Amino acid sequence: MSIAQRTQVGIVGAGPAGLMLGRLLSLQGIDSVILEARSQSHVIDRVRAGVLEQATVDLMHQVGLGQRLDLVGLRHEGLYLAFNGRRHRVDLSAATNGRAIMVYGQHEVVRDLIDARVASGLPLHFEAPAVSISDITGRHPRVDYDDDSGRRVLNCDFIAGCDGFHGIARGAIPSSALQIYERTYPFAWLGVLANAPPSSHELVYSLHERGFALFSMRSPTVSRLYLQCDPHTDLAEWPDDRIWSELTERLATDDGWRPTEGEITQKSVTAMRSFVTEPMHHGRLYLAGDAAHIVPPTGAKGLNLAMADVHRLSQAIVEFYQSGRTDLLNTYSARGVRRAWRAQAFSWRMTSLLHRTDNDFDYRRQLAELEDLVSSPAAIASFAENYVGSDFSSETTFSA
Ligand code: APR
Ligand code: PHB
Repeated sequence: MSIAQRTQVGIVGAGPAGLMLGRLLSLQGIDSVILEARSQSHVIDRVRAGVLEQATVDLMHQVGLGQRLDLVGLRHEGLYLAFNGRRHRVDLSAATNGRAIMVYGQHEVVRDLIDARVASGLPLHFEAPAVSISDITGRHPRVDYDDDSGRRVLNCDFIAGCDGFHGIARGAIPSSALQIYERTYPFAWLGVLANAPPSSHELVYSLHERGFALFSMRSPTVSRLYLQCDPHTDLAEWPDDRIWSELTERLATDDGWRPTEGEITQKSVTAMRSFVTEPMHHGRLYLAGDAAHIVPPTGAKGLNLAMADVHRLSQAIVEFYQSGRTDLLNTYSARGVRRAWRAQAFSWRMTSLLHRTDNDFDYRRQLAELEDLVSSPAAIASFAENYVGSDFSSETTFSA
């Protein structure tokens, strides 16, 4: 027999979306149980994205977790676009009234949120995969999950599907009630983490004849770099020397700048995908983060979109418990879909601007577009606004 528990909000997934939702709800006195399929160390050690928009930084402060971020996060007020052997600095802050981004690894965000949850003693179960989500159109949706004592039942008022692209939550919604929009790309990113002091204070996005490359960082001693590659790339064919020589070729500029080399401590290949689910809820199941949408990493939007979702969802749930009103719950999806499409548009634009196809016509056109971008203050302002992102509270609904 299954053992049953009850909570107000059942949260499936302890990535940044699920953990932040739990934090936001707990600060408003709302109970939640977070279920995570993987182990705590797996979740904390996963190397993922690393650019926080201003609004995500503000949210971390708002939930009382800005301390380590302020201490070790790297504030960036600009970035470089490199092409034709030259680096062009885009002054993000000048173009956006002083806004900036923060380089702070996603796993650091996850670590801060887990530490806070564990310190508060609130339920967060690792190695506890949700196996089914049911009764979502009734008043008491439920999650069945496994832990080391067997099958368990969690009865909820609401369920938040924060279980990423490969989770089960999206699949719990009848396919006839969902519209999926998707695009895959004929390339991927080979990413490395290296013990090498960053040789630029700011990120460098480069379009080179041999393909895209990105120079980023995690700390004053650790660089994070990416190369455009084939989606079927076998890492065994990429020894460290080959990676460094390709990175150097694609990133080095005529002013003598090049990435500093160092010991490579981690390598991976990440596929690129654009994906949107509409709507982002069904009955009392609400999807948030990668469960609802995926953007290619070129615009650095994935983590920030997830944070915007759970910020919006927490406000809607708080309104419900405080006043019984469902206005914000009713517009959760429309506002999220709108934000997701704007992020899709920007991420697609950056991806297609900076990745090499096998057609030289495209390459020449991309160079002309980049030239246009860096020589037009209006184009830079639009790029910068999109890159640093908008406030989470500035969302409006679709009036379609
Ligand atoms: N039961 C419980 N947990 C699950 C299940 C399940 N059946 N399926 C998946 N999970 C967990 C995964 O193990 C993962 O820890 O859900 C979590 C989802 O986390 P993420 O994939 O990190 O997704 P999300 O929280 O939406 O984060 C947004 O932004 O930068 C991007 O892709 C990057 O992960 C990042 C995302
Ligand atoms: C990263 O540092 O991991 C990173 C930075 C910018 C991106 C994507 C990833 O666009």
